[in-house]
Amino acid sequence: MADEILRIEGVRKGFGGLLAVDGCSLSVQEGTIVGLIGPNGAGKSTLFDLISGFVSPDSGSIFFSGREIVGLPAYKIARLGLIRTFQIPRSLMRMTVLENMMLGGQNQVGENIFANIIRRGKVQAEEISIENKAVEILKFFDILRMQDEYAGSMSGGQKKMLEMARALMADPRLLLLDEPFAGLNPALSERLIEKVKKLRENGLTIMIIEHAIPYVLALSDELYVLNKGAILAKGRPDQVISDPRVFEAYLGAGPDAQP
Ligand SMILES: Nc1ncnc2c1ncn2[C@@H]1O[C@H](COP(=O)(O)OP(=O)(O)OP(=O)(O)O)[C@@H](O)[C@H]1O
Ligand SMILES: [Mg+2]
Repeated sequence: MADEILRIEGVRKGFGGLLAVDGCSLSVQEGTIVGLIGPNGAGKSTLFDLISGFVSPDSGSIFFSGREIVGLPAYKIARLGLIRTFQIPRSLMRMTVLENMMLGGQNQVGENIFANIIRRGKVQAEEISIENKAVEILKFFDILRMQDEYAGSMSGGQKKMLEMARALMADPRLLLLDEPFAGLNPALSERLIEKVKKLRENGLTIMIIEHAIPYVLALSDELYVLNKGAILAKGRPDQVISDPRVFEAYLGAGPDAQP
């Protein structure tokens, strides 16, 4: 059995009177893709904020590779290899695409997953400079031709690609993707599915928040449903999706909600 890379135990976070995350526990196995779905306001992004250290839990524990990370600042958690993207891309619009990438890189030319993907067997990982790494990652996401453009001039879909590309500069072992498909057209989404699968093939572990169920089903090895801050269901994606409680949770979330 694969190793557990992330374990969350009884994590709670309230904002004023609202319990955004209400005693969540979950486990992620190394090398898998874990989907996280749930109605709007269920607490999905807040859970990512808690895992990545952007927000501190009121109680509960989070273990990354067996190490308790609650209380560590976000930058230290990132250095351990736990990297997240944001629902709204956070690129610096008045810097070029390449400059954004260089900022995303940790100042080390170490081992990285892209050395394996693109240059397997050809070049030693440590020979790859940060700039070369940026170029390879931009190529992987099909946005290399934009390298000298301002990030602000990119389309919504390209900005999402840049957000993910930048996250990979930091050599993640666990990557948290918050709605990576939102705003992408179907063709681009299909391409992104293949890219995410390729990252998994190369050993990256991924947690993915997504509303579009077909993409979740295409990618997830395991699926969790969050509702009102608590885990409502978990397991094999096709089984979870057909769980009537999941359907009801979305119905309860309003007329436009759908699993
Ligand atoms: N910093 C904050 N201050 C106050 N309330 C917050 C804060 N962040 C989130 N919340 C509230 O916590 C709840 C959960 O929000 P969250 O963004 O985690 O939901 P979500 O599942 O990601 O929803 P969506 O699918 O719409 O992105 C919401 O009611 C939200 O308004
Ligand atoms: Mg969200």
